[in-house]
Amino acid sequence: MSVNPFLDPARREELYGHASRLVGRSSALMRAKVAGDPVPDTVVRLVRAHHGERAGRLGLVVDIGCGRGTSSRVLAEQLCPSRLVGLDAAPALITEARKRVGRIRGVQMCFLQGDFHRMPIPDSSCGLAVAAFCLYHSPRPADAIAEIARVLRPDGLAVLVTKALDSYREMDALAAAAGLDPRAERHESLYVAAHSGNLVDLAKPNLDVLAAEHEEHRFTFDGHDHAAEYLATNPKYDLAPGLYGNPGALAASLHEFVPDRPITTGSVITYVVARPRGARS
Ligand SMILES: C[S@@+](CC[C@H](N)C(=O)[O-])C[C@H]1O[C@@H](n2cnc3c(N)ncnc32)[C@H](O)[C@@H]1O
Repeated sequence: MSVNPFLDPARREELYGHASRLVGRSSALMRAKVAGDPVPDTVVRLVRAHHGERAGRLGLVVDIGCGRGTSSRVLAEQLCPSRLVGLDAAPALITEARKRVGRIRGVQMCFLQGDFHRMPIPDSSCGLAVAAFCLYHSPRPADAIAEIARVLRPDGLAVLVTKALDSYREMDALAAAAGLDPRAERHESLYVAAHSGNLVDLAKPNLDVLAAEHEEHRFTFDGHDHAAEYLATNPKYDLAPGLYGNPGALAASLHEFVPDRPITTGSVITYVVARPRGARS
């Protein structure tokens, strides 16, 4: 049986060796978005709600699996910690984050390459640890969460963010209907390791869970050209050679086999807010 692409070390370079796949995917999804709050803004709201006055005294914040630094910038600008470390395993994304985020007044910004199972961060040092859309890349997400517990101060807060297993399933149906990948609806979810349905249970052995929020995000793609921009970035599909990473060719196949029309899909986003075991409020 083939390994889930999000858990396959052999596919890491293809997924995150360059920023282009993430850029294409985010741009297609952002233009399609019709409902759902921006994720970094929701993280900030949850931190303010659960950290109260301490949200003004966060000290060190770590943005785990920071990617291109989109959420790192919002966390730094809105929460004004004294220091923010963006940590990511992919050197290309760390370089991109440094370029995109630059300097932020009053915040010492630092982007580090590292593995979230062994973070180069001292014990009990962080006022806030955010891990958004990255724990599903771990074959051992509970170990990564134990590592988050290690770096949190006793009064620190963790915000973990993931998606539902069946996210974007209408896109799978489109890929199957067009014959791009007849098995498109039967592949294992990319989010199987850490998803909306198991994130609380993954956190519980090492963190006290304060809240879990689920929000439905909806996306309407204009038609095949727009849908192809998303489909071409999805590593789950078994596509004919030349289609993965090639929205133009993929759109041509869609036009050939399915009438063009807008397509709506969704993804439940789950936020788990937690603090170190036994911490007092
Ligand atoms: C989908 S991106 C999420 C980026 C960002 N957090 C966001 O919300 O837009 C997942 C990120 O997790 C990173 N990642 C995957 N495995 C990792 C690991 N073991 N340690 C650190 N980062 C990892 C990838 O390199 C990638 O940048």
